Amino acid sequence: MTENVLLIGGGGREHAIARALEDGEARHASSSGTGSDDSGVDLYACAGNRNPGIARIATEFETLETTNPEAVVDYAESVDATIAVIGPEAPLEAGLADELEDAGIYAFGPKASDARIETDKAFQRRFMRENDIPGCPEFETFDDMDAACEFIDEYDGDLAIKPAGLTGGKGVKVIGDQVTVEEGKAYVRESEYDRLVLEERLVGEEFTIQAFVANGEFRTAPAVQDHKRAYEGDEGPNTGGMGSYSDATAHLPFMTEDDYAEAVSIIEATVDALEDYRGVLYGQFMLTAEGPKVVEFNARFGDPEAMNTLPVLETDFLDVLTAARDGDPIPELDFAEQATVCKYAVPEGYPTDPEAGAKVQVDEESAGDARLYYASVDERDDGIYTTTSRSFAVVGIADSIAEAESIAEDALEVAGEEGLHVRHDIGTSDLVQQRIDHVRDLRSD
Ligand code: AMP
Ligand code: GLY
Repeated sequence: MTENVLLIGGGGREHAIARALEDGEARHASSSGTGSDDSGVDLYACAGNRNPGIARIATEFETLETTNPEAVVDYAESVDATIAVIGPEAPLEAGLADELEDAGIYAFGPKASDARIETDKAFQRRFMRENDIPGCPEFETFDDMDAACEFIDEYDGDLAIKPAGLTGGKGVKVIGDQVTVEEGKAYVRESEYDRLVLEERLVGEEFTIQAFVANGEFRTAPAVQDHKRAYEGDEGPNTGGMGSYSDATAHLPFMTEDDYAEAVSIIEATVDALEDYRGVLYGQFMLTAEGPKVVEFNARFGDPEAMNTLPVLETDFLDVLTAARDGDPIPELDFAEQATVCKYAVPEGYPTDPEAGAKVQVDEESAGDARLYYASVDERDDGIYTTTSRSFAVVGIADSIAEAESIAEDALEVAGEEGLHVRHDIGTSDLVQQRIDHVRDLRSD
């Protein structure tokens, strides 16, 4: 049968999800020869911005407020959606999965109570502690900001200051890295957050593992390393992620297979403790001298990490979705043994003072061997415009990280990045070598 899949969200991650469904459809058509295979997908999409890449793939694209569950459910019903895939975290927090389920529409995405693993960092840390999930740093939670400042003064070591709620990846300040003790305390006093988590600063290299979870089971994807800082050399403010790479193996060059397996065992303990979680569980880890520790969990694919993972997924994403919905085991996942490098072009001034409303000139046809994913741009009658978030990404795919990096760079050159900012160092051999040296030094201390 044909599934009417409703995709929620208009970023690069959602463009990658749309492409994964489109690629699966193309594989089906070519393997059945005649194209008369009876399984298939009709894609519908909705987001606050009109993403031109998704709009081109989808049968229909509706512009609506995705944090308004009622509006999304109405649209889902109007297109007879049989499955919904929720990309971003804000609709999850707003209870969209719950409301779709009440309307009898299967949502691949957790209920608001399970999404708290991402949307409430205080809950997330307590959940780890209560369930003895390994890899939890020392932490305390605070509603009283004077008490938080006292804790900072008394704590022996550096702390990460984390607002408990969602901040688009931009709310964390790490003492000893981005801020001094005094700047940290000023941030606590001035930023008007209701609740904070103060936790041990983890030192090491970060990596992401995304797991597809349903019916008490999970399957993991290869590790990815994102780059949170806005400027080259890991300088500047934290962003939603400036770009990312993955290797042809499940692990990354700075880690071992055992490190990967240890992180997967942390995901396993979390899935077991969450009981009926469904959707993607994203583990953000720090590979420290003592092994992987949890920086955070997200309740969805990473953005940009989805753009590394989904293009090399050789298993049909639709098969994962239908198995999840039908209570069947999720199929074993096959990933092409290829490296990927993703680089984002973002508005000038992003993330602190982004220039929205600038016209983006992208020559999509000349992306060459790379894939081009549109992100939070808005397509209007007279062209494509920036919003306050990331604009588009290019992804190189090849046998090695170095080759994938050069494909991504070539594509940026032709696609054009005028008026936009790119971290050209992501995926370069120099930066990857620095990561390898960093972990080697930590381990030899
Ligand atoms: P989050 O919003 O939790 O993704 O945090 C954003 C970024 O802050 C992470 O990607 C890390 O780079 C950094 N971070 C968060 N928690 C810690 C920690 N405990 N130690 C060091 N860095 C951290
Ligand atoms: N890449 C970080 C995130 O998706 O939250």
